[in-house]
Amino acid sequence: MSQTPATPAPVPAPAPDAGFRFWLDSISPYAEQVDWLTFGFLGLLAVLTAPVAILLPYFVIKYRQGNDVPRGQAPRRNRLLELTWALGPLFLSLIFFWQAADMFVKQRTMPDDALTIHVQGKQWMWRFQHPGGQREIDTLHVPRGEPVKLRMISTDVIHSLFLPALRIKHDVLPDRYTEMWFQAEETGRYHILCAEFCGTGHSRMRGTFVVMEPEAYQDWLDDRVPSETLVERGEKLFTAYGCAGCHADGGSQVVRAPDLTGLWGKSVPLKAGGTVTADADYIRDSILLPRKHIVAGYPAIMPSFEGQIAEGDLAELVAYIQALGTGEGTSRP
Ligand code: CUA
Repeated sequence: MSQTPATPAPVPAPAPDAGFRFWLDSISPYAEQVDWLTFGFLGLLAVLTAPVAILLPYFVIKYRQGNDVPRGQAPRRNRLLELTWALGPLFLSLIFFWQAADMFVKQRTMPDDALTIHVQGKQWMWRFQHPGGQREIDTLHVPRGEPVKLRMISTDVIHSLFLPALRIKHDVLPDRYTEMWFQAEETGRYHILCAEFCGTGHSRMRGTFVVMEPEAYQDWLDDRVPSETLVERGEKLFTAYGCAGCHADGGSQVVRAPDLTGLWGKSVPLKAGGTVTADADYIRDSILLPRKHIVAGYPAIMPSFEGQIAEGDLAELVAYIQALGTGEGTSRP
């Protein structure tokens, strides 16, 4: 436990919605790129629309009935002009398409060394759990300058986690993990919103996103250290739910079941042909719907745990199996 009376307050304190501001904070390079893309594209649209918007009223007035202007000898064709107004906007738009596609791919490619925080959306609150086991509700503390990955699931309807200061948003679904990542570069307090209408309390499903200096984040974690980390809890649950009876290595088990050591991230051959990547969704499905993906060479005898394991416990089991597979690599204690 470390107290930090000597260091200045880790978080500058303006509330997220203090006063009117014309534009939102943007606290990552990605967020700035999103802004540039938005304004750049708006600018392009303005440039492409302006000639029409200006010339239309000009010609309407100039060639109105009764006005004495030359009529009748309008040019019939101008191939260069036609090609220019067709291809020019096409290429200009493609620049934005290319930029947006590049940003999309980067945003959807999860960095391997990211700090993984589990998120549960629920009517109407956000629950967060840090790798060390620390939990919080409607507030999310993260370190500045480090990649953070959110592994998200809903316990009821579809929600959408929106972090406007980072310009990122992703649906949070029941029965399936979704992920998004970010790297916040400025400390402060920002909004967390739900961006998918999810019932009468939707507008109240909001919270505070707190970006702290890494040392302050570490102190914050240390101050509320729980008795067990996610992985330790997962290991206990692995025994408590009887998983270890079949899946533990050592050969004492009655039933032969796939060994889970080193499984994470591998491609698993299936009895029905094909393979599936051992990720969080695969692990979760294998626990709840064990018949969905039968591993080649094994009998379909695992019982389903559907409805018997709380979403939080599942997250801990997934964290434990991930740790088994990667030698604690990506799941920090
Ligand atoms: Cu949750 Cu809207």
